[in-house]
Amino acid sequence: MEILISLLVFGYLIGAVPFSLLIGKWFYKIDLREHGSGNIGTTNTFRILGKKAGIIVLIMDMMKGAIPVWTAMLINTDFHVFLPGLAAALGHVYSIFLKFKGGKAVATSAGAVLAYNPLMFAILLSVFLLTLKTSKYVSLSSIVSAVLFFILSLVFWDPLLIGFSFIIAVVIVVRHISNIRRIMDGTESKITFM
Ligand code: G3P
Repeated sequence: MEILISLLVFGYLIGAVPFSLLIGKWFYKIDLREHGSGNIGTTNTFRILGKKAGIIVLIMDMMKGAIPVWTAMLINTDFHVFLPGLAAALGHVYSIFLKFKGGKAVATSAGAVLAYNPLMFAILLSVFLLTLKTSKYVSLSSIVSAVLFFILSLVFWDPLLIGFSFIIAVVIVVRHISNIRRIMDGTESKITFM
């Protein structure tokens, strides 16, 4: 029980570290919350700070989800190893360092899935890229992948993951409500490089 609580706290705290915000403030003197979509995620980092910062934030935000899951796997616990990854995703969205505000959980959840089940990650990444190529919307691709994550946990029949992926899908969809509104009124920004 102590190990579970420690890993949940560890996952939540590492997830809560807003790397994009720190990189923006330290190296670019820019507060990402005041630019673009206002989100502190990978997409807005690419959009506002450029490719180099975007790639670094993508890796760091994914690691926030992956490291707690890998740690749980190494310790060989009797609880579901994805649980600390879920804590990290929730830490990213409801960060204690940002008055319980934060990002949209996409990259951090993706990192947790990568660590937990690389095959599932590969399927989700393929669908994400396919949706991105056809729609040009990162937000829509994120929503489609989040819902597919839940469906895949049913297909792979991983009972506890069904609950965890449901929570993640709901959080991701809810955090994308402003994007959904923009897609519907035609003002959501599209990517230009695919
Ligand atoms: O990673 C979040 C992405 O799906 C949307 O980001 O900045 O366009 O709201 P953004």
